[in-house]
Amino acid sequence: MTHIITPIIAGNWKMNGVYAALTELAALGASLAQDSAESGARRAIVLICPPATLLAAASTLCAATGIVTGGQDCHPGKSGPHTGDISAGMLADAGAQYVIVGHSERRTDHGETDALVRAKAEAAVAAGLKPIICVGETAAQRDSGEAETVVESQLAGSIPDSDAAQPFVVAYEPVWAIGTGRTPTSAEIAQMHARIRAVLVARFAQVGAGVNILYGGSLKPANAREILAIEHVNGGLVGGASLLAKDFSAIISAV
Ligand code: PGA
Repeated sequence: MTHIITPIIAGNWKMNGVYAALTELAALGASLAQDSAESGARRAIVLICPPATLLAAASTLCAATGIVTGGQDCHPGKSGPHTGDISAGMLADAGAQYVIVGHSERRTDHGETDALVRAKAEAAVAAGLKPIICVGETAAQRDSGEAETVVESQLAGSIPDSDAAQPFVVAYEPVWAIGTGRTPTSAEIAQMHARIRAVLVARFAQVGAGVNILYGGSLKPANAREILAIEHVNGGLVGGASLLAKDFSAIISAV
């Protein structure tokens, strides 16, 4: 069975954007509406993950545009004494449909382990959100030839046992490519995405064949067309270039 996977272009605003940044979202909505009027149905799911402070307002603003929203992280629990944390259910209540878990910045800044990432992904699924589970090697790990082993071990530890009713997304983001302007070669991306697909199919059979595998790390208008055309690259997770509607819509047009 061949799977037709609708690509996802996801914007991760990270810790950027105050209320005024919603004007970029309105501009993105307008530009996407114009594109669909000119060229027919949109070929990708467009997702924005703003800071939690903007999620409810962004979700309301996006409702009429077809853009969907997501959180950047969630706590593995449902509620309780966890000052400063946000549960997956709270994100869903604020309009989110997705949540990023295990981003390398969380793994580095907050010492998140695969087991914690897996618990967060489980909490997301339980709350009706689709988790975007991030994996990726450091520069040192790639240089020492360990990139695939590292990613395989992150996949094994971070993805919950799943079935067809519990969709999830994987994002491959080499740590050394995030925010640096450097990207792997197309051949390196192709090799890693094929490896991830094989791991997903081995573990989840047909469900694994249909999972979106996003590429992330310095995805820009200038390289989007080439990267998004690679086999088993089913969309992108975009940081810096998602902050301005002009750049982000250029990436969406590249699909
Ligand atoms: P970047 O970030 O596009 O700014 O490299 C990607 C990410 O961290 O998701």
